[in-house]
Amino acid sequence: MNNEKLWGGRFTEKPHATFAEFNDSFRFDRRLFASDVRASAAHARGLNRAGLISADELNVIIGGLAQLQADSAIDADFFNSTAEDVHSFIEAKLVEAVGDAGRKLHTGRSRNDQVATAFRLWLRDEMGDIDGLIRDTQAAILDIAEGFRDAVIPGYTHLQRAQPVLFAHWCLAYFEMLKRDRERLADAFKRVNVMPLGSGALAGTGFPIDRERVAEELGFAAVTQNSLDGVSDRDFAIEFAGVASILMMHLSRLAEDMILYCSAEFGLIKLSDAVSSGSSLMPQKKNPDALELLRGKSGRVFGHHAGLLAMMKGLPLAYNKDMQEDKEALFDCVDTVKISLRAAAIVVENAIVDEERAREAATKGYLNATELADYLVKKGIPFRTAHEAVGKLVLLGLDQGKELGELSIDEIRSISEDIDEDVFDALSLEKTLASKSAIGGTSPERVTDAFKSARESLKK
Ligand code: ARG
Repeated sequence: MNNEKLWGGRFTEKPHATFAEFNDSFRFDRRLFASDVRASAAHARGLNRAGLISADELNVIIGGLAQLQADSAIDADFFNSTAEDVHSFIEAKLVEAVGDAGRKLHTGRSRNDQVATAFRLWLRDEMGDIDGLIRDTQAAILDIAEGFRDAVIPGYTHLQRAQPVLFAHWCLAYFEMLKRDRERLADAFKRVNVMPLGSGALAGTGFPIDRERVAEELGFAAVTQNSLDGVSDRDFAIEFAGVASILMMHLSRLAEDMILYCSAEFGLIKLSDAVSSGSSLMPQKKNPDALELLRGKSGRVFGHHAGLLAMMKGLPLAYNKDMQEDKEALFDCVDTVKISLRAAAIVVENAIVDEERAREAATKGYLNATELADYLVKKGIPFRTAHEAVGKLVLLGLDQGKELGELSIDEIRSISEDIDEDVFDALSLEKTLASKSAIGGTSPERVTDAFKSARESLKK
């Protein structure tokens, strides 16, 4: 195949091998092949409508592009090339296959609007896949929540036992986070789904190409409104990396919770062997590697987000080659997010809650102290006064090695006369949970509602 550069005319010397290695992007941007072929076909139709290529030439070009697409799927050597980038690769292949008609394809476009268009097309598809994978992870979370419908775990603040919550309530917290991630993804999609093609190199195209028609054919909702911005805007990539970062941060927190919960110290959940690994030295070890990788890989995605911002911040209008750096960053974001979501779903699906131990943990350590303060408030005591009395009761309990519900009524009344026998019932785990019945609380009835709306949101 003809390896001449697209810009060879003005040059008398060949690129230095090191420069070529440094400059060429084909080894990674070939990933945009299908998107660029698709955009090229739409561009060709636009050229034909504008009277720039004949119907015959159009057919030859479309046929040639379709052939390249087909060959790429079956020919193992198809991508063996020293092309500079995917755009020059496709053009050279096309000219090789169909001759002169292929040499007309680049009329009215530049690689600058071309790459921005192909990149957005590619990202659009990936965002669709990622949306589906987030849904799958949400479904896995909902399944385990329903599987351990009645399990109770300690809820923590400052990683200290705070108040009991239903395990399902904990699950649904992550469901909510992922729900927002889907919303953010859908919103970012609106700004990805805009077509820069027709911006030319920077100033717009001098040919009467109906950009909106081309956009429609490619499924873009709109066309960019300023050619300088069109070729140099990478907001969509940065925004996606930002959305991906928040998503990964959520997966990382989920992972961190589960890493703690499956440790011997917590012992609230057990991970499946299928997502754990052993130690080469210590025979007893079962390590939560999948979860640690979720936590670890989040850093990569944050890094790409920061890297893209740094790459863009000093660029003068319009296109600059720095921007070629956007590809590997975003490719890796997408790959990392996809495998992470798949891994998260599997880990969650296969985890088991140690219900007995979790209940034990949720009832030891004065997790019902707030409940007792609320009990006093219901008897007309100001909360601050109640808080202090219960604090003293906790001290008494600590002193005697007893939970609040294990103190005798006389011991309790020695600190607060306002407490009666009915306190023992009020302090039970069931009552403690049931009382949290305002919207968003962990009472079983609220959690049942939350299940319903969660299932509902998965239908979308
Ligand atoms: N490989 C380039 C990129 O990713 C394509 C655009 C090149 N344009 C140019 N004028 N050199 O940004």
